Amino acid sequence: MKIIQFLKGLLLFIPVTLILSPLTKAFLFISYFNRLVLWVIRNKKKMLFSDFYTPFRNYSKRSQLYEFMVDRYLLANEPVTYLEFGVAAGSSFRWWLNANKHTESLFYGFDTFEGLPEDWGPFYSKGDMSSGIPTLDDSRGTFIKGLFQDTLVGFLDKNREALGEANSRKVIHMDADLYSATAFVLSQLYPFLSKGDIILFDEFSVPLHEFKAFQEFTNNFYIQLTPVGAVNNFYQVAFVVD
Ligand SMILES: C[S@@+](CC[C@H](N)C(=O)[O-])C[C@H]1O[C@@H](n2cnc3c(N)ncnc32)[C@H](O)[C@@H]1O
Repeated sequence: MKIIQFLKGLLLFIPVTLILSPLTKAFLFISYFNRLVLWVIRNKKKMLFSDFYTPFRNYSKRSQLYEFMVDRYLLANEPVTYLEFGVAAGSSFRWWLNANKHTESLFYGFDTFEGLPEDWGPFYSKGDMSSGIPTLDDSRGTFIKGLFQDTLVGFLDKNREALGEANSRKVIHMDADLYSATAFVLSQLYPFLSKGDIILFDEFSVPLHEFKAFQEFTNNFYIQLTPVGAVNNFYQVAFVVD
């Protein structure tokens, strides 16, 4: 114990490990990639719907996952509260709006509509995916423009009672790509989650973004999310709240 304290103090005083600092991100990536591999090993057999292993990703497969969830959890005709984080031009939002026919269902889409608020990995820059607010011809749908970090707390305060109602299942669609956005949203939604609610991730297997946010959320909040479906080698994954 004393030797560890001594060495730690010494390494803070003489920071020789700075030599390794260019590799900090790589170490973190490897650490979370390994956690992802372990997560897949532990969970792949639990899936009720999965295409694992598939050699190539096919983005259109995510609608097969949505269809599975709609059929399995009878989402076509029951009232749902659908919350989508990351709407862009509205493609997945419209899919869910069309898939559910209940007149009391409500659909909320959150986005800056001005693109990503920060770079996402090496290929997407701040401002990419800017789309403007999509148009809708269904009065059950509403878009909330702005950073989640600015809009979500007020929204939850205003809709606290409605969101707490047990007769409407919540379907939460995490499609903001970024760690920061995903971690923030999950932490804010935690008090509103009920058994049977559904959480979809659109880029689950990105180690330092949605996967890291998911791991921290489930560990830090002691919440159990059961994975039920996945496509594209766990890129898109659907969970049910236990
Ligand atoms: C991949 S796109 C969403 C795609 C959409 N769900 C679809 O399938 O068509 C990601 C979106 O997340 C939004 N976004 C990311 N972080 C955000 C944040 N912190 N606040 C608001 N919007 C955010 C971006 O503006 C972007 O439009």
